[in-house]
Amino acid sequence: MATVDEQQERASRQEHDHAARVRLMFAGIAGRYDLLNHLLSGNTDKRWRRRLANQLRPALVPGTCALDVACGTGDLALALAEAGDARVVGVDFCRPMLEIARRKSSTIAFSIPFIEGDALLLPFADSSFEVVTIAFGLRNLADVRGGLRELSRVLKPGGRIAILEFSRPVVPGFRALFQFYFTRVLPRIGGIVSGSRGAYEYLPDSVSRFPDQKRLVEMMRETGLAEVEYQNLTGGIAALHFGRLPLLQS
Ligand SMILES: C[S@@+](CC[C@H](N)C(=O)[O-])C[C@H]1O[C@@H](n2cnc3c(N)ncnc32)[C@H](O)[C@@H]1O
Repeated sequence: MATVDEQQERASRQEHDHAARVRLMFAGIAGRYDLLNHLLSGNTDKRWRRRLANQLRPALVPGTCALDVACGTGDLALALAEAGDARVVGVDFCRPMLEIARRKSSTIAFSIPFIEGDALLLPFADSSFEVVTIAFGLRNLADVRGGLRELSRVLKPGGRIAILEFSRPVVPGFRALFQFYFTRVLPRIGGIVSGSRGAYEYLPDSVSRFPDQKRLVEMMRETGLAEVEYQNLTGGIAALHFGRLPLLQS
């Protein structure tokens, strides 16, 4: 039987291998990532990110800092910068995705630092941000709980967290139709346009393994977050979860 040390070593090796595979996969599709997002969702992805940013607007006041984790090509970070007056920072561990984000930010009025870093080991001190967001990133982490803990660690007491992620469609007939599109049609189109069918087979596969709306609420509460609530987007294809780090008890 494996000792506790051996089990921990195996778990950390698996996490490391998972992260390396995910990073390589996004590096391979970075150039086509935005195009495919908009094409495969009929531009709905833009609306979802804008909705997240608009709902956080009251927290994005001058003097505050917002961190977008797993920022990819930067669309949510840019939406946050547009929605309010907070200083926005993006972090991701895939350099080709970050390069696209930096190029976008250089062509607009907002200057957003896009930093290379791992969501499971963020390069920021505890309690650094009033707002922390992650869109379509949590599902990709080797350790979802560890990710929630790390996002909470860098959040200031009283700060808000928002998670945008694919979820479970709530209407049965629509769910079946969407499943057909998501598992049969999308990987084909994604494969043809990006040249990596594997990445677009990984998408529905990773969504099927990700906690549904209610389970994610529980996990957020277990992490110590309060005021946790969610909204279904487009019938539950995606969901927007919000939470708040409680103020320190005196
Ligand atoms: C599906 S993309 C989402 C990008 C962006 N947030 C958006 O809304 O389009 C997932 C991103 O998560 C990043 N990612 C996955 N695991 C990560 C980790 N452990 N640390 C940092 N970034 C990670 C990938 O590099 C990729 O850019």
